Amino acid sequence: MIRAARLEDVPAISSIYNYYVKTSSASFSVEEETPEKRIHWFLEQKKRKMPVLVAVSKVDGQVCGYAFAAPFRDRPAYSTTVEVSIGFAKQFTGQGLGRPLLQQLSELCKSHYRLMLALVASDNEGSLRFFQSCGFRKVGVMTGAVHKFDRYLDLAIFELDLTGGKLSS
Ligand SMILES: CC(C)(COP(=O)(O)OP(=O)(O)OC[C@H]1O[C@@H](n2cnc3c(N)ncnc32)[C@H](O)[C@@H]1OP(=O)(O)O)[C@@H](O)C(=O)NCCC(=O)NCCS
Repeated sequence: MIRAARLEDVPAISSIYNYYVKTSSASFSVEEETPEKRIHWFLEQKKRKMPVLVAVSKVDGQVCGYAFAAPFRDRPAYSTTVEVSIGFAKQFTGQGLGRPLLQQLSELCKSHYRLMLALVASDNEGSLRFFQSCGFRKVGVMTGAVHKFDRYLDLAIFELDLTGGKLSS
């Protein structure tokens, strides 16, 4: 089941996120975040009217994964562009849950934004395939832009047209 995230979902979101901070280049953070920081972020998302969705188990309500849109950059000229973040607890990956969650998020974003970006490190093969499979177009690669776990990784840029084909006009 997919629904808007609530304040009580924040610890579960944080725990999923911190797993990828510690183990993978799926997160570009290098230090685990505190619960306070994630609560502050959640309230900011609400204030900015940026959607945060969670996929929860119908059986016990457990949060399996999250997806949210965030401003791509703070400058006003980027105001119609958002960046997506999505992550599932390890045991819930590869079960077809990511695609509908991403689809719902992009549907929500269509009314306010024109372009959705996803930035993916070059060693995150699952995620590279995922965004391509969900209709994103790879539009560039930044060489060695990511430094994590003592390695430099390229950063792929994916975009999704939220306008239904009117993006370049
Ligand atoms: C990336 C992620 C959100 C995808 O969600 P998911 O539920 O695992 O993906 P789905 O099962 O819905 O798969 C959708 C498509 O992506 C492809 N895909 C997803 N993970 C894949 C993997 N590890 N390897 C190859 N393809 C993969 C699937 O094959 C499927 O494509 P298809 O229908 O054309 O076969 C999830 O695996 C995840 O949380 N990964 C770790 C965190 C992460 O990398 N987040 C993104 C940071 S940029």
